[in-house]
Amino acid sequence: MIMKNNNLKTVGMEKGQLYETIISSLSANGRKNAAPIGVLCKSEEEVAVYIYQGSHTHKNISNSDYFVVNLTTNPLLLTECTLGDIPADYFYEFKGNPVLKENDAFFISRVIKKKELVHENELGSSPMTVFTAKVEEIVKNEDVVRPLNRGIYAVIESLIHFTRLEIGDFETRQNIYLKIKEMDRVARRVGSASEKKALQEILEAVHEKYKDLE
Ligand SMILES: Cc1cc2nc3c(=O)[nH]c(=O)nc-3n(C[C@H](O)[C@H](O)[C@H](O)COP(=O)(O)O)c2cc1C
Repeated sequence: MIMKNNNLKTVGMEKGQLYETIISSLSANGRKNAAPIGVLCKSEEEVAVYIYQGSHTHKNISNSDYFVVNLTTNPLLLTECTLGDIPADYFYEFKGNPVLKENDAFFISRVIKKKELVHENELGSSPMTVFTAKVEEIVKNEDVVRPLNRGIYAVIESLIHFTRLEIGDFETRQNIYLKIKEMDRVARRVGSASEKKALQEILEAVHEKYKDLE
């Protein structure tokens, strides 16, 4: 179903939240590409993507100023797009754009701003480009679309870790605690306000119950 408006709320995307998607794009010589990419919802009709230089996606978006955001929860599709190139017959063409045949919804995005930056982390420094884009057209294949956000998984994993803290010696508990701390990092970075609060409550409960953990 082609949506009459370009409002990202119709595909469950909220301002300020980061969603894990598959971006499809076209090379200068017409080759279709797909890669998992985090998409930041900037407003109801604008998104931003942070793309490492050197990838096909970076080259294609720089060249065409267009990309397609495919919303899917298919684990194998996400995996195939990460581990290698997917076959050409996984795509179809929609108004000149490459779209994945399998998705819950997709939208066409047109770049309106580019900014270069260097991302520093424990692996070193990597140049990337921030592409801000306007949503031009939304197509929904499912009535209810739930874009993937890592926050809820961080909460669920932490709760499971919490229930396991009872078992085991100090070293085992310390390892489990580190896993919860890692989930807290994820929730702080990409989670919603309630997911951040959930992790805070879990950590408070851990500190309350196990005073020897740090
Ligand atoms: C869930 C997930 C999210 C990702 N998000 C990003 C991202 O936001 N920016 C980026 O440059 N790479 C991201 N990546 C890594 C790219 O998908 C990966 O580098 C890919 O190989 C690029 O493929 P390409 O050369 O076909 O564009 C992500 C990977 C995964 C699995």
